[in-house]
Amino acid sequence: MNGYLNGQWLFASHFFKHPGLLGSLIPSSRHLIERLLRPVDWSRARRIVEYGPGVGTITKRLLAQMAPDARLLALELNPDFVNYLRREVKDPRLEVVRMSAADLGQALQERDWGAVDYAISGIPFSTMPSTIRDHVLRQTREHLHPGGEFLVYQFSDRVRPHLERTFDAVERGFVLRNFLPAHCYRCTLAA
Ligand SMILES: C[S@@+](CC[C@H](N)C(=O)[O-])C[C@H]1O[C@@H](n2cnc3c(N)ncnc32)[C@H](O)[C@@H]1O
Repeated sequence: MNGYLNGQWLFASHFFKHPGLLGSLIPSSRHLIERLLRPVDWSRARRIVEYGPGVGTITKRLLAQMAPDARLLALELNPDFVNYLRREVKDPRLEVVRMSAADLGQALQERDWGAVDYAISGIPFSTMPSTIRDHVLRQTREHLHPGGEFLVYQFSDRVRPHLERTFDAVERGFVLRNFLPAHCYRCTLAA
């Protein structure tokens, strides 16, 4: 099996084991990825974190557009996805760690990273405990540069009030052309 099919199969097999952690049977479509990443200003994106890269569908797109001196730190809970990404996506700008998005502060501190320019999220906020969700949102806000952005996609709109409570502005979009139609949110801080 080639790397792409291998990734799709690995993703689907984990959906049947942990549906709440994955939220979807199939990785994100290119339409969803394009919409989600549309706000990114690649010329100033030097430090990026990704929550829940899965088999790397969004990760690869980020790497394709990132500057040569930019860095991407991907936090993924599932060890099989971590091993798969380390094996399949060889790029010195990428580091994949087996950590929860809730541990962002620790992950940044260990790497001596200051604030980040973009946090990109594919983790299912509506199926995780509310304490973890709130912690991830607060940590993200705390570690974003003042001009930084938090870009999120979700299959339900349930997280919106929590995003609106945590960030200063939240813009919303909707993408139909995905296995499950998805909401996209662009969360920013006041200047
Ligand atoms: C819907 S999948 C998204 C995969 C990929 N980003 C995509 O768009 O195709 C959600 C991913 O988030 C991971 N995940 C769930 N909760 C997480 C958390 N708290 N921290 C890090 N990863 C998490 C799951 O293991 C899974 O890989």
